[in-house]
Amino acid sequence: MEAVSRTAQWTAAARALETEREDRLFADPYARTVAGTTGFELLERYAGAGTVPFLAIRTTYLDRAIGRAVREQEIRQVVFLAAGMDTRHYRLDWPTGVTIYELDRPALLEAKAAMLADEPEPAGRERRTVAVDLTQDWTGPLKEAGWRSEQPTLWVVEGLLFFLPEDAVRTLITTLWQHSSPGSVLLGDVISKAALDNPLSRPFMKALEEDGNPWLFGTEEPEQLLTSCGWTVREVKQPGEDGADFGRWPYPVPAREVPRVPRSFLFTAIRDEATS
Ligand SMILES: C[S@@+](CC[C@H](N)C(=O)[O-])C[C@H]1O[C@@H](n2cnc3c(N)ncnc32)[C@H](O)[C@@H]1O
Repeated sequence: MEAVSRTAQWTAAARALETEREDRLFADPYARTVAGTTGFELLERYAGAGTVPFLAIRTTYLDRAIGRAVREQEIRQVVFLAAGMDTRHYRLDWPTGVTIYELDRPALLEAKAAMLADEPEPAGRERRTVAVDLTQDWTGPLKEAGWRSEQPTLWVVEGLLFFLPEDAVRTLITTLWQHSSPGSVLLGDVISKAALDNPLSRPFMKALEEDGNPWLFGTEEPEQLLTSCGWTVREVKQPGEDGADFGRWPYPVPAREVPRVPRSFLFTAIRDEATS
């Protein structure tokens, strides 16, 4: 697996820890398997303020938003961009007829398939894995896998954008919008630029760089990023705010006006009917 793909085992390790809490917010019974020893080593190596609670919050926020999109908006195509070791295909209660596309690098998808080879496929949903490079053209392989741009899509971009250079981030988010029919939903997360530059983040950033998976992109203006790429923003939340706390965030939430604060943002955006 490429270095950046090992970070998928890191986030899986955090999901395993949440799963093993008595007061867990979600259960990912596959997380420990796909995390492997690498995931727990990285969890230790990248340990920093708020990483584990943030990952529990991010998972919960997205689990719930995904549930709303498929149940209330009845979206039946779900695309996980940079799916990594995500096991929502197995662990969420999907309405019948959902097709789930998991996009990631080929070596990661192969390793994940091997780790989960003994798990029975859940009934009532279909999963298709698509090996891609998300900085190149990936829509062709997705179409070949059966995805239809004329039907609404739920896109999930979790734990990816900070690994990409800014132009690749903008191209990706714009491409998602261009390939979305009205009613499509985009869920994801992004960090502030201050999170990259803050002196307190230096040891973490240095470790990521040494491991060959540096963080490159952040923005103080996620709303502006999304709208400039066509999307209509429904909400942007920092961990600890209403709707993105879940009793896990141990820190105060600095107001958005305060400059130079390392932040994470969770977002929900839609492809509006009115735009073209
Ligand atoms: C931190 S993991 C996040 C995985 C998963 N979404 C999660 O939240 O647990 C980052 C993922 O991005 C994938 N990735 C990074 N750059 C990529 C690219 N250019 N094309 C496809 N996948 C990429 C990696 O392989 C890895 O699975």
